[in-house]
Amino acid sequence: MATQTINDVNLAGKRVLVRCDFNVPLKDGAVSDDSRIVAALPTIKHLVEQGAKVILCSHLGRPKGQKNADFSLSPVAEALASKLGQTVTFIEDCVGPEVEAELAQLGEGEIALLENVRFYAGEESNDPEFAASLAKLADAFVNDAFGTAHRAHASTAGVADHLSPCVCGFLIEKELAYLGEKTAKPERPFTVILGGAKVSDKIKVIDALLEKADTIIIGGAMAYTFALAEGRAVGESLSEPDHISTAKAALEKAKAKGVKFLLPADNLGVKDLDFGAGTVGDSRYFEGNIEDGWEGVDIGPKSIELFKAEVAAAKTVLWNGPMGIFEIDACNKGTFAIAETIAASDGISIIGGGDSVKAIKMSGHSDKVTFMSTGGGASLEFLEGKELPGVSALDPKQ
Ligand code: 3PG
Repeated sequence: MATQTINDVNLAGKRVLVRCDFNVPLKDGAVSDDSRIVAALPTIKHLVEQGAKVILCSHLGRPKGQKNADFSLSPVAEALASKLGQTVTFIEDCVGPEVEAELAQLGEGEIALLENVRFYAGEESNDPEFAASLAKLADAFVNDAFGTAHRAHASTAGVADHLSPCVCGFLIEKELAYLGEKTAKPERPFTVILGGAKVSDKIKVIDALLEKADTIIIGGAMAYTFALAEGRAVGESLSEPDHISTAKAALEKAKAKGVKFLLPADNLGVKDLDFGAGTVGDSRYFEGNIEDGWEGVDIGPKSIELFKAEVAAAKTVLWNGPMGIFEIDACNKGTFAIAETIAASDGISIIGGGDSVKAIKMSGHSDKVTFMSTGGGASLEFLEGKELPGVSALDPKQ
């Protein structure tokens, strides 16, 4: 069911609690990747322009219900203020009388950022009392934390029981449009590229996308379990022998539905991989079986050509998961080739979050894709067809 957005309501003069996903990486006490902050700006600016009293909240990391300075959102307040060119008042707690007193000073069009909501155990347990304390700070609720929308927590779902209206911001609206509508009714041909380590992590996504895609391309370590399902040897490659039957079922479903299902035609195999040092020993390409003693770490040149041709012919491309261990230079060719091909394609390109977003940024082509999701787990769950609690808690469109 469609959800109301901030365009459907007038929040002028209201105290608005805005849940953002400011779970950003920090380095030496500063924000090292501000993508999620940038993604939240349209909603924040809109509320400021409307004259709302903007009370931002978020989690950062997993502090396990304890106050912990390493997980403070204070660096986010600084980064946000410099992006907006406006003061962002950082409040050193997120609930209680002192917070309420500080927020009473907040004027229309002004912004405050609360401290990490996960400093309280009640956040993750969605404790009704904690949710009520948070809700007490505001009149209305805007959820724009797509990356956390798969969590039924107090600040993503529980607060909605106490506030009205409860609507989504521009980021959630955009994420739902790209990961939802544009893949449900895609411009065809619709090609999906899935990678990553485990079939068991992605099987539900594969299953759901087999209903929508014309072509599914599999890369990453996941492909070795599919290779086992096809009776090939994978040497020392990461695979899940327990999930061979799962892979077989997906192959059969693809055949029954007439979906083209492509596995790598060749792989890069290495010896003596040291992830920490970022090095590999001997390396060579394998077509078909990978010999004992060798570990598959990337797709090979033939696979790259095969996959490139599919992407070039597609009108819609969805990519989720790297083709190999792209963090190591010697094993990143396949992933970066896919990133470049997607960036060069004329069709709609949607990058489904997590490692693929990281890879496309590393490749320097992130400005050329149509849409990059800010959600890792959330984008996967949404693509699986699951309901997101942070979205279903909001007011439905009338
Ligand atoms: C994420 O980074 O995926 C989100 O912020 C959710 O974080 P979590 O997995 O700790 O709930």
